[in-house]
Amino acid sequence: MLRALEGIIRETVFMCGIVGCIGDRRATPILVESLKHLEYRGYDSAGIATLNGAEIDVTKIEGKICDLETIINETDNACVGIGHTRWATHGVPSSTNAHPHVDCTGSIAVVHNGIIENFQALKEELTSKGHIFCSETDTEVLAHLCEEYYNGDLEQAVREALLRVEGSYAIAVISDNEPDIIIAARKDSPLIVGLGAGENFLASDIPAIRKYTNKIIYINDEEIVRITRDSVVVSTLQGVKVEKTVTIADGSIIDAERGGYEHFMLKEIHEQPKALRETMEDRLYELEGSIDFKELRSLEDEIKGIESISIIACGTSYHAGLLGKYILEDLLRIPVRVEYSSEFRYNNVLSGQKSLAICISQSGETADTLAAMNEAKSQGYLTLAITNVVGSTITRKADEILLTKSGIEIGVAATKTFTAQILILYMFGVYLARLKKLTDVETSRNIITSMKSVPGLIESLLDNISTIEKNASRIGETDCCYFIGRGLNYPIALEGALKMKEISYIKAEGFPAGELKHGPLALITADTPVIALVPEGKTYYKMLGNIKEVKARNAYVIAIANASDDEIVKYVDSVIRIPDVDELFSPMLAAVVLQLIAYYAAKYKGAEIDQPRNLAKSVTVE
Ligand code: F6R
Repeated sequence: MLRALEGIIRETVFMCGIVGCIGDRRATPILVESLKHLEYRGYDSAGIATLNGAEIDVTKIEGKICDLETIINETDNACVGIGHTRWATHGVPSSTNAHPHVDCTGSIAVVHNGIIENFQALKEELTSKGHIFCSETDTEVLAHLCEEYYNGDLEQAVREALLRVEGSYAIAVISDNEPDIIIAARKDSPLIVGLGAGENFLASDIPAIRKYTNKIIYINDEEIVRITRDSVVVSTLQGVKVEKTVTIADGSIIDAERGGYEHFMLKEIHEQPKALRETMEDRLYELEGSIDFKELRSLEDEIKGIESISIIACGTSYHAGLLGKYILEDLLRIPVRVEYSSEFRYNNVLSGQKSLAICISQSGETADTLAAMNEAKSQGYLTLAITNVVGSTITRKADEILLTKSGIEIGVAATKTFTAQILILYMFGVYLARLKKLTDVETSRNIITSMKSVPGLIESLLDNISTIEKNASRIGETDCCYFIGRGLNYPIALEGALKMKEISYIKAEGFPAGELKHGPLALITADTPVIALVPEGKTYYKMLGNIKEVKARNAYVIAIANASDDEIVKYVDSVIRIPDVDELFSPMLAAVVLQLIAYYAAKYKGAEIDQPRNLAKSVTVE
């Protein structure tokens, strides 16, 4: 029974952002400002707890940080505090379930990102000892456990509490008995500490506190940190002191502003040429027809001997992986499998001798991908992470990493990181093909030349989006739409559908066009627009055949086709043009079009584009 309940709470998980600060300035505005940068991690409810020396003051609300701002105490002069923004997959977000959670006396307050898997057993034990619980959350047991173990030393109480806990956590704890410290700890959920002068900060990630400091300490799993105004002391859960290095964070604060765009998503779509150029920079050698990943040099022999590849990822990153499979198999002639992280890790994973696991995660924090990577490692795979976030958990766990250089992505819907992931997979394909001596200089030089043209072509596409906007409004009027593509453009059809549903809430599905007649064709009516990806290429005429099939069922068909394609207008109702490009790279241009279609359809519907309902940017729970 208990196991069953724990199974349920696994589903009722919370994925959140935490912050904390201690210094001489008022804590409340710092906490609120920091939380705003973590809203991508969840925005169902939010709260802060501040410590004014005498007692803890908790303010929390169902809603977003802007709602929290309306109820915070403007006269609170506390200089110590912790804060939280929450995301729930199930269950009703409420102010009672919002963090911080406190113990029976309101003397200890806790914020938490993660899941306490054995919370039910702990709750029953604590209840039998007289503890009174107020919320339905797993987190509240932490506050009561700390109360149970508190004996004049908060750090020790937290340590003992955490030794009882199974699951994942990044937590911050304050107590009115010790008003000059914050205790924080992590296991499988991200946590960093920021160092200031006479003040210190903690957060789930760097952008949250980047405004206050660029000196960062990464906290590792099962480490606990004692933070005062002037000191930060890290030790293991077992009490062994740990020396930490301070990292200087780069990236400007401006990156996290909308810069005149109405939404982060639109800004990030427009940033794709820059992101791609930066991802290529110093890595392409066109004349030599080679790609140099300096970061892979020490593993070169091992990588060269790879006989199979598994690509592991979730969501949009999974779609990039699907495209990667086409490219890598084509260039390397070795089997490439693509698996959802959440499936891979529970399969009976085959031995990974001479196999490479490429784990793709823009955030580098996706719990399923991290767990799948661990599983791959334990089966002997060499692990390579593709991520956009320097210092993220995946960068510290993979054998080697390849960074996309897209800059921070705030919009929940991944855009610029997606095209950069595709690019880096293409680059890796050419790199390995040359290493294995499978392509000649001329072939890879031609690929590199086309690759280098992509950012400029995306720029010209972005210069003229009126047809895209027009078609998007039409889709915005419907309840559902379908995306079809073949070969390299099939993963893009899936991605187009994902973008559409997540930000516009329009039901959308992507299909390999050849599969229509095996079932999905039954869905096609005059009310279901079909977006067909038909760039020039070896499946062009097959696509025309599939378009005829849906036209015969009265669908309104929008084609995404090459600028020079004069034929397509005879087959479809509307054409969105992409610049002529090598077939290999048309998916990247088509992806940008589909991002814009989803964006403008969502805008037409008045949807909340950067923070779609029920989603969060970084999925740090399983
Ligand atoms: C959709 C989207 C998600 C993520 C997925 C994996 O727009 O962004 O589907 O791709 O949650 O996230 P990462 O890449 O951070 O592991």
